[in-house]
Amino acid sequence: MARQSEAVLPEEQIFYPSERFTRQANVKSREIYAKAQASPELFWALQAERLDWFRKWDKVLEWNPPFARWFVNAKLNACYNCVDRHLKTWRRNKAALIFEGEPGDARVLTYWDLYREVGRLASALKKLGVGKGDRVAIYLPMIPELPIAMLACARIGAPHLVVFGGFSAEALRDRINDAGAKVLITADGGWRRGKVVPLLRNARMALEGAPSVERVVVVKRIGQELELDPRKECWYHELVAEESPCPPEEVDSEDMLFILYTSGTTGKPKGVVHTTGGYLVGVTTTLHMTFDLKEEDVYWCTADCGWITGHSYLVYGPLANGATVVLYEGAPDWPRPDRFWQIIDRYGVTIFYTAPTAIRAFMRWGEQWLDGYDLSSLRLLGTVGEPINPEAWLWFYQYVGRGRCPVVDTWWQTETGMHIIAALPGITPLKPGSATVPLPGLKVDVVDKEGNPLPPGKEGLLVIREPWPAMMRTVYGDEERYVKEYWGRFPGKWYYFSGDGARKDSHHYFWILGRVDDVINVAGHRLSTMELESALVEHPAVAEAAAIGKTHEIKGQAVVAFVTLKDEVFAEIKRGKRSWQAMEEELKAHVTAKIGAIARPDAVYFTAELPKTRSGKIMRRLLRAIAEGKVLGDLSTLANPEVIAELKRRYGDQE
Ligand code: PRX
Repeated sequence: MARQSEAVLPEEQIFYPSERFTRQANVKSREIYAKAQASPELFWALQAERLDWFRKWDKVLEWNPPFARWFVNAKLNACYNCVDRHLKTWRRNKAALIFEGEPGDARVLTYWDLYREVGRLASALKKLGVGKGDRVAIYLPMIPELPIAMLACARIGAPHLVVFGGFSAEALRDRINDAGAKVLITADGGWRRGKVVPLLRNARMALEGAPSVERVVVVKRIGQELELDPRKECWYHELVAEESPCPPEEVDSEDMLFILYTSGTTGKPKGVVHTTGGYLVGVTTTLHMTFDLKEEDVYWCTADCGWITGHSYLVYGPLANGATVVLYEGAPDWPRPDRFWQIIDRYGVTIFYTAPTAIRAFMRWGEQWLDGYDLSSLRLLGTVGEPINPEAWLWFYQYVGRGRCPVVDTWWQTETGMHIIAALPGITPLKPGSATVPLPGLKVDVVDKEGNPLPPGKEGLLVIREPWPAMMRTVYGDEERYVKEYWGRFPGKWYYFSGDGARKDSHHYFWILGRVDDVINVAGHRLSTMELESALVEHPAVAEAAAIGKTHEIKGQAVVAFVTLKDEVFAEIKRGKRSWQAMEEELKAHVTAKIGAIARPDAVYFTAELPKTRSGKIMRRLLRAIAEGKVLGDLSTLANPEVIAELKRRYGDQE
């Protein structure tokens, strides 16, 4: 990449695509934007030719705002597109998944192997009574059986709900119950930083209150001695042993492919529903364009399949494109902070997609961890999950990409299903810290509270003004929430509201400013303040709680909880029967047990009262300002100003 003058601020630097990159790029000309804009439907219809359809569509889009149907009446199967169709070509023997487990075990599955594994599990699931439309919960570590299970569900038309292996038993139970899952696929355990994550134990706890689940399939990962309950549980390897692949089910373009739960502004996570045709067209196309994916690439996305990034850009997008995908289990700093560089070197990774929070951690651990590793195979770097600060962008560009690889920052969400704002690396000049511009065929804007477009330089709300193929279709079981939260923000205008703030600059590049609602983003993971608060107040010692995201150097944001204890507990602490410190630890552990380790507060601050408006609403904005040592701003609506002085004195800008 060619770099502009060095004498400007990092965020004002521009990196132009190198001629060499552009010459070989999948997209070489800016014409694509004009063409897509002239007729988005024609554009997406052309992109849809990437897939194999059993029956083509009657119409590309049917838009009854806010309900969209893409590729109307078309028939296809996502698993067929990700697996079977490659068997007809030389890809049959191409590596589909290169797996490296935390203990160092490795496995390579060709597309043929993948077909056999997926097909056998699909047949077995059918025998367990799973039919088209039945939901299957998946709670697995990052092992090949995880994408295999997803694809097996897709093969028989059974929507999956993958629950991140770091979530607690309770979080798993809530999701299973909301979706009414019939079968759960889990493992005896997973590895994380040398320790066993007790997945089956959690699953059993979850199932005590989840009557819809009839059968549990258990992958043997850890290999500890374990007795299964033969009435309900069975070993995965025994279940598939005698099976052979069943044919893929023909599903409608608008049939549900999966549900994925994410945090919103209430205490209850929402089941984001994605369907088949539009989703697959969206993820397959964007991967081809934004990451310039080629036949020879070794593609590595470090996300867990428990998140949307894992669904779209580790499983469905790359496999439908016939790519070679690296799958890893574990953590970036285990056993040492060079794990990523070792993997890139060992497998000759060419495209590397990760999160800013990981990059910032690597910056802190130091460049010396990259020494001795050959990273010359890399040709493109990607980031996702949170705004990337220019320093982290430049570090990634310089130390990992050695100044040769474009860094493609991708803005999108669980709900959008696919990349929305991202560079086309062969033609888009890059600015560190900006996700650049909307992809072809997409209408994205920054608007004010009434939905009026704002000129460059003004901060406002990020909206999408037209439907796109991989958009969510509804919130599972709660259509009203879908309409209200996403499309009801600007009366009279059918704009999708992202929940993010943003501004455009004079080149019409988008700069994402983070969430403007009660969602916080901790290390690229979405949490809702309400969800955290509900967990806290369930603890018998807690009277009231408020959770906020405090700016954090590595994680982007960290959870800080402000808690008011019940009088009797407060009295006990005063009398020395319990300590503040023990109480803090207990509450942190409680949140971990309720939601999962990602939600564990960094700090718990105790207060006699929470700052509230006269109408009784907690003023989280003030709590955040206190925790960050910032100016408090307007206090006129505050009903109890005396608590502010006290909180500032005790907790103002503590680490
Ligand atoms: O705030 C934005 C942030 O992550 C949110 C979406 O989170 P989730 O649904 O979990 O999906 C994450 C992976 C796609 C957004 O509302 N976000 C995601 N990507 C970026 C980002 N913020 C800034 N820049 C990004 N590239």
